[in-house]
Amino acid sequence: MTRRDYLQLMAAAAGPLAPAIRASGDADRETRMKWWHEARFGMFIHWGLYSVLGRHEWVMENEGIPVAEYEQLAQRFHPKPNAARDWARLAKQAGQKYMVMTTKHHEGFCLFDSKLTDYCAPRQGPGRDLVKEYVEAARGEGMRVGFYYSLMDWHHPDGARCATDDAARRRFVDYIHGQIRELLTNYGKIDVLWYDVAWPLKAAGWESEKMNAMVFQLQPEIIVNNRNGLEGDFATPEQHITAGNRAWESCMTMNDSWGYQRADDNWKTPRTVVRNLVTCAHDTGNYLLNIGPRPDGSIPEDSVRILTAVGKWMERNGPAIYRSEKCQPGSSDYAGFSRQGNTLYMHVYYWPGDTAALGGLMNRVKSARFLATGKEVKFDQDQFRLRLTGLPAKAPDDPVTTFALECDGEPRQETTESVRKQRPRLKA
Ligand code: GLC
Repeated sequence: MTRRDYLQLMAAAAGPLAPAIRASGDADRETRMKWWHEARFGMFIHWGLYSVLGRHEWVMENEGIPVAEYEQLAQRFHPKPNAARDWARLAKQAGQKYMVMTTKHHEGFCLFDSKLTDYCAPRQGPGRDLVKEYVEAARGEGMRVGFYYSLMDWHHPDGARCATDDAARRRFVDYIHGQIRELLTNYGKIDVLWYDVAWPLKAAGWESEKMNAMVFQLQPEIIVNNRNGLEGDFATPEQHITAGNRAWESCMTMNDSWGYQRADDNWKTPRTVVRNLVTCAHDTGNYLLNIGPRPDGSIPEDSVRILTAVGKWMERNGPAIYRSEKCQPGSSDYAGFSRQGNTLYMHVYYWPGDTAALGGLMNRVKSARFLATGKEVKFDQDQFRLRLTGLPAKAPDDPVTTFALECDGEPRQETTESVRKQRPRLKA
């Protein structure tokens, strides 16, 4: 499958789900997912042999590199010891609560110790179990631990022919199930299993029901995504933020590549990242933001810079993000919103100057303050408009300034126009 085919497939999947068979685990889903919903912000890590080339994680497919040639990269992959500790420290600093690392991407190279193949880190260049290092590093910083695992496999000889040859399918499905079993048996408690790309089979071919049943049997508290052909516990909009009517997590790159791509300098600004986080929090979604470490495991400096800035903001403004509840107000050209209880958080992206205003708020505001400092903000309110006044000329917080507006009920906004209709303005 080409990357273009894949992207088309993803676009199609963003539409209404085919009548999906429910994975097991329905009954206790709420309990299993509580921490995840509260967490809101996670770190995605794409790391593998493609990092050695530094030209995106699809390089093998997109440059047509033969398996025998690509395999040689495994001898050139020599990460520094415990590189994952820096990732976990950075994730913690950034205010992220969980991590999801590629244990095996489409290239087929396993970063974990597998009895089912020699094409794995302990028996190739690295000479170590990189998944073990990752799990220990993440746990050490109090992070929840997620495993990304690609079903599609460009290295396994049956990875493509399984679609047309049932004996190949049998071998390949046993291999995949076997590796998932290894991953969920050998590393202690795992919090998230993040399947990817089910090409070229469908759920029935992958035996996905059985796969998930095994997963829940090995890790009763785990949560799984929806990319093995079943609904799983959460949906996975990719590179866009679109709320669904079920649990969802938007995964996004920080530049334009998941795997390390040396020349990709199209970095999102810290403000864009915060803004995306707010957009997710507004609709109770999670934001899984990617880093693509270099082959030695070091994190590109721009990613460190961005996540550090976001982390400083999160330190001051985290209460507006973690545990956010569904927020109805959403109409402003310079701010985004999130909510917890009766508190409406107004996140100002483009600072308007000495007065900020919001039209159509249907609640009485009881108090207004800067979330970062707790400092009171003066305000007045009539039936159409809330005005926050006496503000500094320059935005006091960076990259986004957040107001906490305590309301007399669950915050609700209507268009000023409809408010005018409901409460006609008194004649002067
Ligand atoms: C797609 C891409 C892959 C990336 C993933 C992250 O599946 O094929 O490279 O790992 O998206 O969501």
